[in-house]
Amino acid sequence: MENHALIVALDVPSSREAAEAVARIGDAVSFYKVGLELFLADGPETLRLLRGEGKRVFLDLKLHDIPRTVERAVGSCLRWGPDLLTVHAQGSSAMVEAAARAVREAGAATRILAVTVLTSLDRSDLDLLGVARPVEEQVLALGRLAVGAGAHGLVCSPREAGALRKALGPDALLVTPGVRPAGGALGDQKRVATPADAIRAGATHLVVGRPVLGAPDPRAAALAIREEMAAAAGA
Ligand code: C5P
Repeated sequence: MENHALIVALDVPSSREAAEAVARIGDAVSFYKVGLELFLADGPETLRLLRGEGKRVFLDLKLHDIPRTVERAVGSCLRWGPDLLTVHAQGSSAMVEAAARAVREAGAATRILAVTVLTSLDRSDLDLLGVARPVEEQVLALGRLAVGAGAHGLVCSPREAGALRKALGPDALLVTPGVRPAGGALGDQKRVATPADAIRAGATHLVVGRPVLGAPDPRAAALAIREEMAAAAGA
């Protein structure tokens, strides 16, 4: 895997629309995220399509259950050979260990990513959930827990990437959504960073959806983001 990659989020409702988007973008993007919406609608067909096109896959299913169930669910996912697969760090150490074990025992190249605190949660949500420490500390604590339990990296906000990189060292994958090219529309994202900011903060993979899929020329939009990433990585 190269040091940095752009991952385009295929936030579309069907494999037909996914195929159209992938065809329009062509060789400008080699990595796609398939999340719950598309997976539950047309998962196997979409994953076969992406494989057939030689694309890499980030399967964003955010698994969260008892360790045995997660271990077996990860085993089921491996048939599609995803490069990245998400679990919730809140399932705790034994669950993350079980996910990592499923990959290891299958001899698969899939990397397990943990989600710490969903960015849709704020202070008042953590209060409701009985979590007293500040959000940033909770993110760091869950990040350490997950990587300590065998996760290969984390999904995180670009604003958290710097602190996580410091805490976790150079090897952890840090995959950041919430990325907007300078001057781009925010959509429902509130706390965003530019591609260059995210790379400089230590992100290894950037997840971008609407700024590419919603652009008049998605291929050109993806190429522009990749150029910005490469410039920031080389700087
Ligand atoms: O269109 P946009 O670039 O906002 O898409 C970002 C993608 O990353 C979406 O698939 C979204 O669900 C996902 N994501 C996110 N923020 C998180 C975790 C995932 O935007 N904290």
